[in-house]
Amino acid sequence: MKALLLVGLTVSCSTARVAATLAPPRVQDVVCAQIANIISNASEVFYPGDPLYEKGIFHAAISSTQESKCVVEAGTAADVGKILIILGRTRTPFAVKGGGHATNVHFSSTLGIHISMYRFSEITYNSSSQTVDVGAGLIWDDVYAALEPLGVNVVGGRVTGIGVAGFTLGGGYSWKTNQYGLAVDNVVAFQLVKPNGQVVRVTQATDPELFFGLKGGQNNFGVVTAFTLKAFPQSQVWGGIIQYPGVVADAVTAATVAFQNVTDPKAGLITTYNYIPSIQQVVSAALMFYDAPTPPAGIFDSFLAIPSVGSDVSTRSFLSMVQSSPVNFTQPTRTLYEFLPNLGFTSEVGSLLFNETVAIGQLLTNKSLIIVSYDVELFLPSIYSHNSIKTAFPPVRNISFQPFNIAYQWNSSTFDDEFHAIVVASQARLINAQIALGQKNLVDVPYYPNYAVAGTPLEKMYGANIPALVELKQRVDPTNVMGLAGGWKF
Ligand SMILES: Cc1cc2nc3c(=O)[nH]c(=O)nc-3n(C[C@H](O)[C@H](O)[C@H](O)COP(=O)(O)OP(=O)(O)OC[C@H]3O[C@@H](n4cnc5c(N)ncnc54)[C@H](O)[C@@H]3O)c2cc1C
Ligand SMILES: *[C@@H]1O[C@H](CO)[C@@H](O)[C@H](O)[C@H]1NC(C)=O
Ligand SMILES: *[C@@H]1O[C@H](CO)[C@@H](O)[C@H](O)[C@H]1NC(C)=O
Ligand SMILES: *[C@@H]1O[C@H](CO)[C@@H](O)[C@H](O)[C@H]1NC(C)=O
Ligand SMILES: *[C@@H]1O[C@H](CO)[C@@H](O)[C@H](O)[C@H]1NC(C)=O
Ligand SMILES: *[C@@H]1O[C@H](CO)[C@@H](O)[C@H](O)[C@H]1NC(C)=O
Ligand SMILES: *[C@@H]1O[C@H](CO)[C@@H](O)[C@H](O)[C@H]1NC(C)=O
Ligand SMILES: *[C@@H]1O[C@H](CO)[C@@H](O)[C@H](O)[C@H]1NC(C)=O
Ligand SMILES: *[C@@H]1O[C@H](CO)[C@@H](O)[C@H](O)[C@H]1NC(C)=O
Repeated sequence: MKALLLVGLTVSCSTARVAATLAPPRVQDVVCAQIANIISNASEVFYPGDPLYEKGIFHAAISSTQESKCVVEAGTAADVGKILIILGRTRTPFAVKGGGHATNVHFSSTLGIHISMYRFSEITYNSSSQTVDVGAGLIWDDVYAALEPLGVNVVGGRVTGIGVAGFTLGGGYSWKTNQYGLAVDNVVAFQLVKPNGQVVRVTQATDPELFFGLKGGQNNFGVVTAFTLKAFPQSQVWGGIIQYPGVVADAVTAATVAFQNVTDPKAGLITTYNYIPSIQQVVSAALMFYDAPTPPAGIFDSFLAIPSVGSDVSTRSFLSMVQSSPVNFTQPTRTLYEFLPNLGFTSEVGSLLFNETVAIGQLLTNKSLIIVSYDVELFLPSIYSHNSIKTAFPPVRNISFQPFNIAYQWNSSTFDDEFHAIVVASQARLINAQIALGQKNLVDVPYYPNYAVAGTPLEKMYGANIPALVELKQRVDPTNVMGLAGGWKF
């Protein structure tokens, strides 16, 4: 062990000057040991076989999981700093994981060294500043559960299991977005470990460029250990999911089209078209939300009147609402997400998505398909107006685009490449079809980095912000430490 350590240190010194080639796998093992040696007793390193190693590399989509050399559960910002310095000096590939919901492999997983943020789990409400400090290792379920007795809430995820960190650093569309904007619009401060190991609190006052970059720029500028978020009052809410047989899809589409006339910012809706291979049919679903115990008459009546195959709608806590969505599968599934830009949902767009759901469902059925889902996420045109300062995402705020989502889940890795190619082709086809239906400005819509599939050009997501983000990257991370981690890179 001692001899190995010396080898590692020698390698790290020489590569510090060269800084070009990645540490080979054998050296990465040594780096695990080096890290174990320098961290405080608040942090710990786990190796394959340990349940905490498995917990560390776990992802909601099994296709995003990779077998790392070791898992470092970091417990203090100072330890994260020491770890980043070693990783940078040895040019060791690594990953940082929050809630592990990335649907692109390598974004929060690695064959190198995995940094798990679970130990950053504080939730502290400050009633005088109306803010909540939230640890970067939490999932939103934990945050909602802790805030519920206090009668406050934050702008976070809409379904169970999503991580605070990746969601917030990429943008963040929430049930509260119609009222308060995206998650990035509601961050007051970031506790950040810079790539040089320095721990800083980043606000609009301390470093406006870095504050801008962290609001959508994901893991490019270091590792965030905590967020200070604006808090808002929270009562019981109304909502849940209704699932409909394929035969009433047109009625669900019509109700969804009409929902766009609702101007009440407390109302939210996600309509989905889902192909289920076992029944060779589309099941559509409406996930409805109202930010009060009872919705005013008229908003959701048409959804409630359509004959359904299952309904789970009630007055409930915000946490119960978020956990009502059936995203938990009994077996681990491989998953891909893709962003679908949209500028308005019409019956023609509904018919297009329904037809695509059937066509892709049939095409993929014999390729271990579990579900194909085309998701209509509707927000008020005003959601991008809740912030007067610039954010990395979205790069434009004068286009009222909707963040539709395409999701495929399957079982066998044999088909990974095929699913990727098919989701890319499907997105392109639907963009062209929507342009043909009159959405001329669709080409100007920025793509949501938290939905976009791997391979999406940076330009599509960050547009005119790219030069500023590249310049910021050069200042904050001149030796490209964060380039050793996957994700969108400036
Ligand atoms: C079932 C499901 C539902 C979803 N619902 C929504 C939704 O309602 N609204 C929405 O906007 N999005 C939604 N998403 C997308 C979601 O925002 C992204 O998947 C997001 O990246 C998840 O964050 P995470 O922390 O769980 O991910 P992770 O996989 O842990 O991380 C994602 C990215 O963030 C980086 N990162 C994580 N932690 C840190 C850190 N501490 N410092 C720096 N970088 C870090 C990682 O390196 C990685 O690049 C959903 C995704 C899924 C799978
Ligand atoms: C961790 O180290 C600190 C000081 O370095 C010490 O006070 C504390 O008792 C240690 N904790 C454990 C669990 O060993
Ligand atoms: C809470 O916020 C107030 C007002 O910003 C601030 O003065 C105070 O120090 C904060 N309290 C804690 C415990 O951080
Ligand atoms: C929605 O509003 C538009 C424009 O005001 C109107 O033409 C349309 O009939 C309304 N649709 C529904 C379903 O209320
Ligand atoms: C989904 O699974 C997670 C992790 O096992 C659990 O915490 C959560 O409560 C589950 N959600 C639902 C709706 O069952
Ligand atoms: C969807 O398919 C149906 C039946 O084949 C067809 O009538 C309809 O025009 C299609 N819709 C679109 C938008 O292509
Ligand atoms: C899937 O395979 C089965 C059995 O080989 C076959 O009967 C069926 O037609 C195939 N389905 C599709 C959509 O190709
Ligand atoms: C949005 O603003 C940008 C510049 O900020 C401008 O170039 C563009 O034309 C505007 N687009 C619309 C649709 O107003
Ligand atoms: C999923 O794939 C695994 C391994 O490839 C296989 O063992 C399992 O039977 C498959 N499950 C289903 C439901 O197809």
